[in-house]
Amino acid sequence: MTIATHKPSFGPLDGLKVVYSAVEIAAPTAACILGEWGADVIQIENTGAGDTMRDTAYIKQLERRNQRSLSMNPFADEGRAALLKILADADVFIESSKGPAWARRGITDDLLWSINPKLVIVHVSGFGQDGDPEMVNRAAYDLTVAAYSGYMSQNGTPEQPMNPGPYAADYFNALMIVGAAMAAVHKASQSGIGESIDLAMFETMMRIGAYYMVDYTNEGIVWPRPGARNQNLCGIGEYRCNDGFIGLCLYGVKQNEYLLGAIGLGHLWGTENIPSDTSGLWLSNPHADEIQSKLEEYCAARSKYDIEREFAENRIAAQVVMEYRDLVDEEHLKLRGDWLEWKTAEGKPFKGIGVFPKFRNNPGQVWRPMPPLGFDTKDVLEKAGLSAAEIQDLIDKGIVKTA
Ligand code: COA
Repeated sequence: MTIATHKPSFGPLDGLKVVYSAVEIAAPTAACILGEWGADVIQIENTGAGDTMRDTAYIKQLERRNQRSLSMNPFADEGRAALLKILADADVFIESSKGPAWARRGITDDLLWSINPKLVIVHVSGFGQDGDPEMVNRAAYDLTVAAYSGYMSQNGTPEQPMNPGPYAADYFNALMIVGAAMAAVHKASQSGIGESIDLAMFETMMRIGAYYMVDYTNEGIVWPRPGARNQNLCGIGEYRCNDGFIGLCLYGVKQNEYLLGAIGLGHLWGTENIPSDTSGLWLSNPHADEIQSKLEEYCAARSKYDIEREFAENRIAAQVVMEYRDLVDEEHLKLRGDWLEWKTAEGKPFKGIGVFPKFRNNPGQVWRPMPPLGFDTKDVLEKAGLSAAEIQDLIDKGIVKTA
């Protein structure tokens, strides 16, 4: 097995040490992104089967790349002592659990700051570190925080709320964790004082879902769930063509003028209901139904590729709804080098995506595949200053596990 143990120097986060304890998607994906941007990332996994993500066939290879696996129970006394040594020179510690689970087990912010005052601690949970005790200790996944936050009720058809996939709440939260951690690192580097972030996943989704929510809080308006169409404007949504679907976002004066002409309603342009400075064709417009049905007819009679080309030439934002096979063949993605292949720890080729976004001066990179459970246990403990005898003692007691 060939897995590099020395992280090469690269990326805007080179020199940053990130330690995390979490399973599945939200917090681990945040750690993964930090690792792709050059941070040295250590995942703490339990000494049983480890991260539940290990059950997946493929996605684990993408989302656990550039990470070290430390299999350890940080809640046993000796495990806690080892954790403190590991965190002594860390910049960021992320944990995701049911409410204040770490503090309940004696690993408080103050304890962590006593060994590293600059440490940025991110507590990720479904419902927060405090508030209603009924809520804070609840287990949470993508779907349940989307449900609680009001985000899910905005998605789906009028009859049926639906959760936007794949795992939108997890991935939005991953990005929020990255942003919050980096904001706190910036401040800690100036002040020398660390931070403790209470990141409740449902609150991220409230932030993401606020666009229409404030129409309700200020005026009591509840827009119907949109299904495949925007709830306010004509020409925004997914339209059926004779060979698939096009994603269309019609907005702007020139764009509206062109579209009305194309679908045979040019005579409406510059009239009382659709004056010649109309940038949005609102569904409240008396001609909205007519515009929508003519546009549907227009799309249904044509190829998605022809519509995309024609609309693009006329400044209208429109893209064919790509299937996976289209993406793999797409020239633009090839030219940008968006696909990346590397070898798993078992030596099998794995096809994934590259590192985004692209930093021009300090590009990210993939330097190692997902390691087997506990692959880095000894290395991480040694670097934290534990002797060979101390490490063996932890192994013998089942507090840590090696690959
Ligand atoms: N060694 C020993 N015990 C460990 C450990 C380790 N390395 N890491 C975690 N544990 C403990 C946990 O503290 C937990 O103890 P508790 O139930 O007494 O609090 C127990 O092992 C189970 O771990 P957990 O990962 O919490 O599993 P779970 O199946 O009970 O819950 C979640 C999983 C994801 C639902 C829960 O962790 C959660 O709500 N997390 C916050 C939101 C989140 O991240 N959701 C997933 C988004 S993809």
